[in-house]
Amino acid sequence: MATLFKGNIVHAPVFGELVCIEHGYVAVSDEGRVTGVYAARPEGEFDEVDLGDMILTQAFCDMHLHAPQYTMLGRGMDLQLLEWLNRYVFPEESRYADITYAENSYRRLADEMISGGTTRAAVFSSLHTDSSLLLARILEERGVSGFVGKVNMDRNCPDFLCEDTEASLSETRRFIDGCKDFGRIRPIITPRFTPACTDALLFALGELARETGLTVQSHISENPDEVAWVKDLWPTGRGYWDSYLQAGLFEKGALMGHCVYSDEEERRVMAKKSVWAIHCPLSNIDIASGIMPVRRFIDEGINVAMGSDICAGASLFMPRVIVGAIRASKLNWIHTFKQEAFLTCAEAFFLATSAAAVYFGEGTGFAAGNEFHAIAIDDSRLGFSNELPLVERFERILYRMEPVDIKMVWNGSGTTSVK
Ligand code: GUN
Ligand code: FE
Repeated sequence: MATLFKGNIVHAPVFGELVCIEHGYVAVSDEGRVTGVYAARPEGEFDEVDLGDMILTQAFCDMHLHAPQYTMLGRGMDLQLLEWLNRYVFPEESRYADITYAENSYRRLADEMISGGTTRAAVFSSLHTDSSLLLARILEERGVSGFVGKVNMDRNCPDFLCEDTEASLSETRRFIDGCKDFGRIRPIITPRFTPACTDALLFALGELARETGLTVQSHISENPDEVAWVKDLWPTGRGYWDSYLQAGLFEKGALMGHCVYSDEEERRVMAKKSVWAIHCPLSNIDIASGIMPVRRFIDEGINVAMGSDICAGASLFMPRVIVGAIRASKLNWIHTFKQEAFLTCAEAFFLATSAAAVYFGEGTGFAAGNEFHAIAIDDSRLGFSNELPLVERFERILYRMEPVDIKMVWNGSGTTSVK
């Protein structure tokens, strides 16, 4: 039988607008698809789930994170990107050759994602095929869906974490093949970034993307030293973007993390090609990369979603990332002499939920037909909520909530909570 969830409903069907229904209803079909949102009880036979005074809202999408960096969250935060990669990240990722180490870490990561209300993600693994397949399986089993990419890197990296170009390609094919067994996790082509990939590897991965129809995720214009390095490596390129475009990796649906230093031309090509900008505000602050002018991207019609980018970002709890995006945008507002408006709560929440749902082929908010990706939040720990209008209550939740306040999580596979 279909299920009717009763509670305080908050969702974001439109960018910049939270729809809040006190004591409302969300109906979900047997297959776990939303059939409607109602202010009054709809007609029909339902199994009823009464959430009391809890808030029922959309689950989060983390569209850029590095799973093998989970074990080093919070370390090395005084360094900037290139030194940080060499001193901390590459040694840590090399440990994921050990499948037992990987399994222990990935199980904890998957658990923490679900506990924090993240049900969909685009995830970088390490270059190791077997532990990447294990990551995909663990995420799927724990109830996270989306994309996992085995990382490709064949230059400018240490011997202990570097591939031979041919092996990088054949291992990527083996990874893609291995993903055939999964239902809710799909593979994604994942060149680490231009400095870590030879031209031959980039072009071959572009060819592989074309051949398989798979999308691409990578990094772009994150840090000034990185941008300068790419200019050296691709002297004839018209910009960082051109190293991906020429290789066939800058096509519709490509997910490009950061975009802090994307110039006008880079943004123009992104808009034209329907390449997505993944905003990683905590990361951009934590390793001192800079402030992404997210408003500019939105105004120019570029698709934007949000990522934690752990562990350059030191938290995978998406409400923290949402608030980080708001804060970063306020600094940008100040620095542009109030020319570029900061993000509102409603806007930032949309980017971490509905925007990415669109990437997964769904409608915004609790649109009819969407898989039921939702969380139930009990804000009684915060106190003083009973006099507040629901919208204010929700804004306060975004700033103040902790994973413990999320009591139930539905991950799009049915009407049973996975938390
Ligand atoms: N650029 C290349 N690799 C990485 C990484 O692991 N994290 C971040 N933030 N940027 C990168
Ligand atoms: Fe990243």
